[in-house]
Amino acid sequence: MSVMQIITLTNKQGMQVKVSNWGATWLSCIVPINAGEHREVLLGCKTFEQYQQQDAYLGATIGRYANRIAGAAIDIAGTHYRLVANQGENQLHGGKLGFDKLLWDIKNQSAQKVTFSLISPDGDQGFPGELNVTVSYHLTDENQVVIDFQATTNKTTPVNLTNHAYFNLDGESSKNILSHTLKVNANLYLPVDKQGIPCGDLTDVTQADMDLRQPRLLSDRLLESEERQKTGGYDHAYLLDKTQPIAAQLISSDKKIVMNMTTTQPALQVYTGNFLQHTPNRHNGEYDNFAGVALEAECLPDSPHHPEWAQASCFLQPDQAYHHQTTFHFFT
Ligand code: GAL
Repeated sequence: MSVMQIITLTNKQGMQVKVSNWGATWLSCIVPINAGEHREVLLGCKTFEQYQQQDAYLGATIGRYANRIAGAAIDIAGTHYRLVANQGENQLHGGKLGFDKLLWDIKNQSAQKVTFSLISPDGDQGFPGELNVTVSYHLTDENQVVIDFQATTNKTTPVNLTNHAYFNLDGESSKNILSHTLKVNANLYLPVDKQGIPCGDLTDVTQADMDLRQPRLLSDRLLESEERQKTGGYDHAYLLDKTQPIAAQLISSDKKIVMNMTTTQPALQVYTGNFLQHTPNRHNGEYDNFAGVALEAECLPDSPHHPEWAQASCFLQPDQAYHHQTTFHFFT
C-alpha cells in the first residue's frame, strides 16, 4: 500500500515547490525575491493530520467535478445518476471522498517534475465510468508551475479537474489578500445564489460591479455589491476571454511578486477565502477569512445541467482524451 509522501521540486533560480501524493496536493511554493529573501506564497497546514481535518481543500487536486452539481444528480443519455451529496443536497468538489482525499500513485518523478495517477472506479461518488487520471506538476527554470491534467473514461461522465491552491503573495503568514491587485480577462461571469448554485445566465461583468478586467484591489467595494454579499466575497466563475494572452494576474500589495496565470480551461473560479476562518495554518495557529485567494481554472459550475453553456461542456466520452493545462508564472 502506498503511503503519504512529500516530493520537493527545485529549479536553478532557487524556487522550491512541494507536493504530496495525498490528494495530489500542492503543499508549498517558495519564491526567491532578492538576495536572501524568500516568500512562502501558498496557504498550507503544519501537519498531515491537519490537512486531513481541514475542509478548505488547501492546494488539493479537485475531481471528479470541481465546484457544485445542483441536487447531486445528473442525467446522461436517459439514465439518471444519483451522486454523493456533501453540501446540503448538492455535491461540492466531487463528493464526500473526492480526489482531494485519496492517495494517488506516483507514476514518475524527477528533480523538476512529478506525475501522479489515480483510478476512480465506475460508480465512484455516484459518477459513471472508470476514470483514469494523471496530474503532473512541473517547476520550470523560468519560475513557472505547470499543472497538467489528463483523463480517459470507459463511459460518458462529467469531468472537471482543477487545483485548489490559495495564494498570498505577501507571504502566507501576512494577514490577508485584501490589498492584492487582481486582473481577470473575462467579459462574462456567472451569477450564483447563496448556496453557490448558478441562478442566471452568463452576465456582463459591468452589470453588477464584477468587472476585473482592469487590475483591481480585492478590497475595492468587496462587500458592497449585492452579488458578493451573497457569497461573503468573490466566489464566482468568470468565462475567460480566450483572445487575451493570460487568464489572470495577481500582484502582491508590496508589488514584489506578480503571478500571471494561463490556462486551457474555459473558466476561472475566483474565491477570496470567504470561509477560511479556523483553517489550521503552518504555525500552530489558524487562518482568518481572506487569508488567501484561490484561482481555480475549470469549466462552469453545475454545467451538466446547462447544455446551453456549450463553450464549457464538461462531458468526457470514451473515445476522447481529457487534457488541460494551467500555468502559474511568478515574476519578482
Ligand atoms: C471553492 C468554492 C467555495 C468553497 C471553497 C471550499 O472552490 O467556490 O464556495 O466551497 O471552494 O471551501
